[in-house]
Amino acid sequence: MFNIVVKDSYEEVSEEAFKVMHAVLMKEDPVLGLATGSTPIGLYQKMIEDHVKNGTSYANIRTWNLDEYVGIPRNHEQSYYTFMHEQLFNHIDIKEENVHVPVGETGSPGEAVAYEESMKDITVDIQVLGIGSDGHIAFNEPGTPFDSLTHITDLHPQTIKDNARFFKGDEAQVPTQAITMGLATIMRAKKILLIATGENKADAIYNMIHGPKDPSCPASILQDHPDVTVILDKDAASKL
Ligand code: GLP
Repeated sequence: MFNIVVKDSYEEVSEEAFKVMHAVLMKEDPVLGLATGSTPIGLYQKMIEDHVKNGTSYANIRTWNLDEYVGIPRNHEQSYYTFMHEQLFNHIDIKEENVHVPVGETGSPGEAVAYEESMKDITVDIQVLGIGSDGHIAFNEPGTPFDSLTHITDLHPQTIKDNARFFKGDEAQVPTQAITMGLATIMRAKKILLIATGENKADAIYNMIHGPKDPSCPASILQDHPDVTVILDKDAASKL
């Protein structure tokens, strides 16, 4: 079930997302599912601010990230491991052993099995999601089966194009594969918090909510989730 909130600006979207996150942070030792991309950066800034000003502690919090590029080392400036440390983990009191980001260096299917296995005894209390302009969530590209678990995937040409901005605008530098939680993995989270801004997300958001429930729009699987909060700016909501 979708609870849709539309806000005027990115700042307000981030503020609203933080409110939803904060309610979960107040529970005992929650497990957070975290996402990369430019969209959740404002939320992470609010989490850092709250930690610094109000002392909200992450000492007992565990996190599992959605995905990682294949074929670049963890310390690469554009790895999602580096992104998460720069945007959040280095600025809060989380313990490194409680941080989980899939390992993409080799692209071996064994890494995907190991990551899925690492989640077998936990329940993610809140899963943060962005959405790709082609309707992907994490790196589950159009056509990914709804029952997929963590796996290695080829990136869609549109995703490579969209993400080239992080690689000096050079599509040739964008990895062509990724390791990603599957759609079934994501659906196990108790609560989903999906954030999207900008007109280039408007079609994907429309298809997620009103389109057929079909792997051609991976995010449409969320129509079956009991608790999805969707926070949008007016541009992302413009086709609803
Ligand atoms: C990437 C990530 C997704 C993210 C999407 C949107 O491909 N794997 O998890 O949601 O891009 O990114 P952005 O928020 O930068 O638009």
